[in-house]
Amino acid sequence: MDTDNLPPPVTDSSEKDVIILREMLGIGDDYVSGSRLAELLGISRVAVWSYMEKMRSQGFDFEAIRSKGYRLTRQPSLLNEALVKASLPRSANGLRIIVLEETDSTNSEAERLLAMSEDAPFAVFSHKQTEGRGRLGRSWHSPPNGNLYMSFGFRPNVSPSRLASFTLWMGINLCECINAFCQVASKLKWPNDLQIEGKKVAGILTEARMDADQTRELVLGVGLNVNGKAEDWPEALKESATSIFQETDQQTNLNRLCAALCGRITLAYEQFLEDKHRSELINRWPQYDSLKDQSVSLLQGEARISGIARGIDSQGALIVEGEDGSKFHVRAGEVTLEK
Ligand code: BTN
Repeated sequence: MDTDNLPPPVTDSSEKDVIILREMLGIGDDYVSGSRLAELLGISRVAVWSYMEKMRSQGFDFEAIRSKGYRLTRQPSLLNEALVKASLPRSANGLRIIVLEETDSTNSEAERLLAMSEDAPFAVFSHKQTEGRGRLGRSWHSPPNGNLYMSFGFRPNVSPSRLASFTLWMGINLCECINAFCQVASKLKWPNDLQIEGKKVAGILTEARMDADQTRELVLGVGLNVNGKAEDWPEALKESATSIFQETDQQTNLNRLCAALCGRITLAYEQFLEDKHRSELINRWPQYDSLKDQSVSLLQGEARISGIARGIDSQGALIVEGEDGSKFHVRAGEVTLEK
């Protein structure tokens, strides 16, 4: 999709801080004149100054030079709603962004918003979660500051059968975006874990509300360990989990990563809606398949299936080849993977 000719992302006219930031980020190291900002915002230069004072208290700083104007010299390292909005690529045009201090679970928050008829799509982020949820009734460790806890709310109105490939498609898009942005090599462990060198860096929890023949509400929840450090994790996670920081030894700019992910997820969702993603998923899967040609053991109800993982079929089911060469097609949601 050509996104270059789209209008800039929709901004509530009251979001003057977003307009200021977008202008300053767009101009890089250069200065924006006070009169340019005053004109853009439709307010006086004195009022522009007082907005900047307010933004200073949120972790921003500006250099002001009388003959040149203003320049952004400091940005908050923690998630900041205005900064995410100002950094959104055009592909996230129309995606509403909500950043919360704290919530029980961003997935639950998104479900509540959808139930209250909030316009979709939207993305909810939280600095921390008090009841972060994982798959199969597990909890998701969600300490404040440094990681991403995010949930995207959609109203797809597509047949429930179409959902089978949704999480995998979103998963490889997450991998691609994170790999490009953070210079890592994450892969997807079918069906919903993102791993780096065999350690879990992110998990996906997709939840849906269906009618008989339609998926009415869909929530894509992603927990991504970004700047967290292993020493702060519970013992049980130290062996199996990692973060972008652990892998790169560098702090990632949370706000820019967050904006990039919003752009990528929005595009991927549009492709999913148009049902154009299936061949792309099959083509790109081998590159991100962490189980490729590995021995796996799965529990499907009471039955154990063991064999070699041989990729996915067109429905997103994992193909497991038994010792006798027979092939099982295993659907996500029905199994516990023990590798
Ligand atoms: C898993 O690996 O089991 C899935 C983990 C999903 C965690 C994310 S964090 C943001 C969103 N809110 C939740 O309560 N869970 C998901």
